[in-house]
Amino acid sequence: MPSEELTSVEEIDVSAARRIAAGHRAQGNSLVTVLQDVQTEYGYLSPEVLEVVAQEMDVPFSQAYGLATFYSSFSLQPRGKHHVCVCMGTACHVRGAANILEKLERDLGIKTGQTSDDLQHSLESVNCLGACALGPVVVVNDTYHGKVTSRDVDKILGDLD
Ligand code: FES
Repeated sequence: MPSEELTSVEEIDVSAARRIAAGHRAQGNSLVTVLQDVQTEYGYLSPEVLEVVAQEMDVPFSQAYGLATFYSSFSLQPRGKHHVCVCMGTACHVRGAANILEKLERDLGIKTGQTSDDLQHSLESVNCLGACALGPVVVVNDTYHGKVTSRDVDKILGDLD
């Protein structure tokens, strides 16, 4: 069963977040920039890390948390080694994206928004990936797959290491 509480049982070393935030603060960079770099470092933004960023940037925790939840590029959950993103925007939806998403949920054994216990896979849906002519679109990490069919899903998942 997928877990959404991994962050609560892990000890997280926040020293990298402190270093990144302090460096950006010294350069006068924005909070969004800090969060981007911190997410790159950790793969996601845990509450512990957001707290440290807020301290170092001298802003309320609510401000850091608010930004982290506002932008879809930020994740508050650990993402899988293979992060699968399905476009559910209008152009993809009318071409069967819902069926693709349902198949991915079945095949991966996780619901949209979840990460597998072994941290191999995570699944999310978004509203538009900017490649509407290629719908339905599925992105695995940074690789785009266009005009995806159910059969393509088998191949896409089969090719993952
Ligand atoms: S609606 Fe899917 S890429 Fe735009």
